[in-house]
Amino acid sequence: MIITKNARVLLLSEEGDEFLITVKPGSRFVTHLGIIEHDDILGKPFGSFVVTSKGVKIFVLSPGIIDEIFNMKRKTQIVYPKDLGFILLMLDVKNGDRVIDAGVGSGAMSYAFARAVGNSGRVYAYERRSDFLELARENFRKWNVEDIVELKLKDISDGFEEKNVDALFLDVPTPWDYLHHAWDALKSGGRIGIVVPTTNQVQEVLKRLYDLPFVKIEVWEDLFRPFKPVPDRLRPVDRMVAHTTYMIFAVKVG
Ligand SMILES: C[S@@+](CC[C@H](N)C(=O)[O-])C[C@H]1O[C@@H](n2cnc3c(N)ncnc32)[C@H](O)[C@@H]1O
Repeated sequence: MIITKNARVLLLSEEGDEFLITVKPGSRFVTHLGIIEHDDILGKPFGSFVVTSKGVKIFVLSPGIIDEIFNMKRKTQIVYPKDLGFILLMLDVKNGDRVIDAGVGSGAMSYAFARAVGNSGRVYAYERRSDFLELARENFRKWNVEDIVELKLKDISDGFEEKNVDALFLDVPTPWDYLHHAWDALKSGGRIGIVVPTTNQVQEVLKRLYDLPFVKIEVWEDLFRPFKPVPDRLRPVDRMVAHTTYMIFAVKVG
């Protein structure tokens, strides 16, 4: 694929330095590795390379969702990619689905939902703070999903405006307060996912889930350990992210 105006491009040096840019004719990108003229990138295929003003070779790649999320502008804690993928599968989110995401925060989870539901689906994204909502809007525009994600500046203590949604996701400090609203918004058989960072929060969520007609209640944590990709000294990296979140899933019945 050829790189055109406004394309998102991941610049990667042979030493592993990474930069994510939007290509604009006439612009230049200045790094410690030298200057890169955007015009040198335009018209090149993804996977090729350019050379900086200091003679450094830089590969031009198409950024994936994980590159975008690790480089995104954020003001809030986000759902990490290691958890995002599992949540998408556990909620069975697919092309054409209608999904509620609350709260939006900086928009990482909404972005993942938008990619999964595609142009025929819809993500209803609730956020009570206008500054976070505007940052999420900026991110969605950059990622080209602003037509799929419907942003709503609303506190979910007033409930959700949608009914019969396929899936609903809660990433708010006291999710147990909103589970009855979630049940109202979900279709029968619809799936809910909730993330919380501490075990006492998990307990509160579980108590409330068992009070309501939800089944298939599950609690998960995932641990990922990256390795140094060196063939002759293959071993894990020295430090790992020990904890991100607990994930709770259930299915609406009744
Ligand atoms: C941790 S952030 C969500 C991060 C998001 N899931 C992501 O992956 O980028 C939690 C967000 O929920 C919002 N929030 C908290 N309580 C809320 C409520 N009752 N109604 C709507 N939004 C709420 C907060 O303002 C905050 O932006």
